[in-house]
Amino acid sequence: MTFEEELRLRTENAEKIILKWLPVFPGYRGSMAEAMKYSIEAGGKRLRPVMLGMMNEAYGGTEEEAGPFMAAIEYIHTSSLIHDDLPAIDNDELRRGKPAVHSRFGEAMGVLSGDALLNYAYEVMLKGVASARDRSSAAAAAGILADKSGLYGMLGGQGLDVEYEKGRLRVDDREMLEEICVRKTSALIEASLMAGAALAGADKEEIRLLEQTGRATGLAFQIRDDILDATSTDETLGKPVHSDEKNGKLTFCSLLGIDGAQELVHRYTEEAVSCCEKLNCRNGMLKELILYLCDRRS
Ligand code: IPE
Ligand code: IPE
Ligand code: MG
Ligand code: MG
Ligand code: MG
Repeated sequence: MTFEEELRLRTENAEKIILKWLPVFPGYRGSMAEAMKYSIEAGGKRLRPVMLGMMNEAYGGTEEEAGPFMAAIEYIHTSSLIHDDLPAIDNDELRRGKPAVHSRFGEAMGVLSGDALLNYAYEVMLKGVASARDRSSAAAAAGILADKSGLYGMLGGQGLDVEYEKGRLRVDDREMLEEICVRKTSALIEASLMAGAALAGADKEEIRLLEQTGRATGLAFQIRDDILDATSTDETLGKPVHSDEKNGKLTFCSLLGIDGAQELVHRYTEEAVSCCEKLNCRNGMLKELILYLCDRRS
């Protein structure tokens, strides 16, 4: 099977799992519930659940046990996108090729459905812990997802991103820019790789290497996202381009130019590949995925 075929199959499988775990609302359907469903059903690349499932398999886990964790990481990620688009944050009206949740359902529902989806992720994940054969590995995986989503991870990064935009971050603050990207974007990629492996009982050293792999992969991913924001189209990305410029953000693109930023994408990709090569598992697909993301167009 080629890499592209395998990625397609894994993405289709992740899609089924994400939809299967969506909430049911017996006898009750408010706008908030509709908004949660809408944000998930709008699609997306589903990279994080694919990564989680892939690493779980690589360390001998079962798909049945990985399912709730795959759904949970995608719900957490999608909740971050709903909030990221709000008028108070990036103020973007298009997401995954459709009106952003707040544009379609109003700002209050954008706030509430993002919160509800984040909470729902934990509801699903804790069901996964309760039914796991090895509860301590499952609890470790849940701990990783919680940690990497919160203050020290994605949400912490979003907080810094807001605080430092509009010119408050200067060119000599390159370290801070990297810190923001590591938290807002690498954290959930690290979480996907680490939690998949932890759930299958991988040892600490492997999980540490996966954290390093995810850190570099996430940096490459966010810098590539910034390049696409500056060079692509709304139609191709399914979200508004030039959002960073509109918000006056300092990005690796504004700092180094497009070519300089793409060089950095290559550098972090190489770093991610070399960490991934040290792993004691079948890592071929992960390596190909990291290389594929380096030149992604959407
Ligand atoms: C977008 O993530 C937000 C960033 C971290 C740059 P994705 O590019 O994975 O978005 P979807 O899930 O495919 O919509
Ligand atoms: C957002 O980065 C990262 C998270 C949502 C955590 P961006 O603001 O660049 O993401 P997009 O470009 O809107 O998807
Ligand atoms: Mg943002
Ligand atoms: Mg944004
Ligand atoms: Mg962006």
